[in-house]
Amino acid sequence: MAGKVRNLINITDLSVEEIEHLLEVADDIIANPEAYQDICAHKKLATLFFEPSTRTRLSFTAAMMELGGNVLGFSDANSSSAKKGESVSDTVIMAGCYADIIAMRHPKEGAPVVAAKKTTVPIINAGDGGHFHPTQTLTDLLTIHRKKGRLDNFTIGLCGDLMFGRTVHSLIEALLRHENIRFMLISPPELRLPEYMKEKMTAVGAEWKEFEKLEDAMPELDILYMTRVQKERFFNEEDYVRLKNSYVLDRAKLVPAKADMMIMHPLPRVNEISVEVDDDPRACYFYQALCGKYIRMALILYLLGMK
Ligand code: NCD
Repeated sequence: MAGKVRNLINITDLSVEEIEHLLEVADDIIANPEAYQDICAHKKLATLFFEPSTRTRLSFTAAMMELGGNVLGFSDANSSSAKKGESVSDTVIMAGCYADIIAMRHPKEGAPVVAAKKTTVPIINAGDGGHFHPTQTLTDLLTIHRKKGRLDNFTIGLCGDLMFGRTVHSLIEALLRHENIRFMLISPPELRLPEYMKEKMTAVGAEWKEFEKLEDAMPELDILYMTRVQKERFFNEEDYVRLKNSYVLDRAKLVPAKADMMIMHPLPRVNEISVEVDDDPRACYFYQALCGKYIRMALILYLLGMK
């Protein structure tokens, strides 16, 4: 990668070919981890998390550690100067003085775009409000590719909070660039996919359909992508309580599913997948979390111009 600084704000900032390259690098890291263990010696990643996270922040941290680099940052806005009233811009300018690359998560949609204008080090959007989450999508693509060997020709059911679920928005954007993907959108009426996302699907001629009942879509699915109802984006507790248990995947509901259907979830789960499903060979969500580390290793190397 030559020349100017690259950021990852939206998944479409990367071309299909670049994503294929990242998947190849991740596969190579999985096959030959020792070849990568010192590659980022003396490099630093800053993780600026203004919103809670477990997997995303830990997988970024583990990724940089496995590359031999170092990590600095904060996991809670309350332990940073944001608490004293510092602007995101100032925090990011400062982090750019100390680190070679920044991963940031923020509750406000668009915050990483503003941040990217303020620093010359690469910015990775680790989730901005109910908007986008491109590194989760890279994780999802690596998981699908490693399990199915392809990123085209399948039917995916996206189930749960399609309104506020940023992982769903980014995943749809990525899959729209591949051939013959059918989207089954399963949600309560209040949590349907936003219009702007449906317009994007229609504009490229993708096949999509809305469902309220998971069982109506289940038999056709090659992938079932469950999501959590995004409590923190609700304006009132009553609506959240009413909607939070709309879908609970258990063994009984899986009876009509295909024998090789992948069950995915970006995690954290609340009630959407019963723990009895964890032993089902189709359950991929913890493997997905593992893939998150490898693809972030590949991404860090790429944005640093090292792979
Ligand atoms: C997701 C997120 O933060 O959007 N989690 C994650 O990064 N793996 C999904 C969620 O919080 O529900």
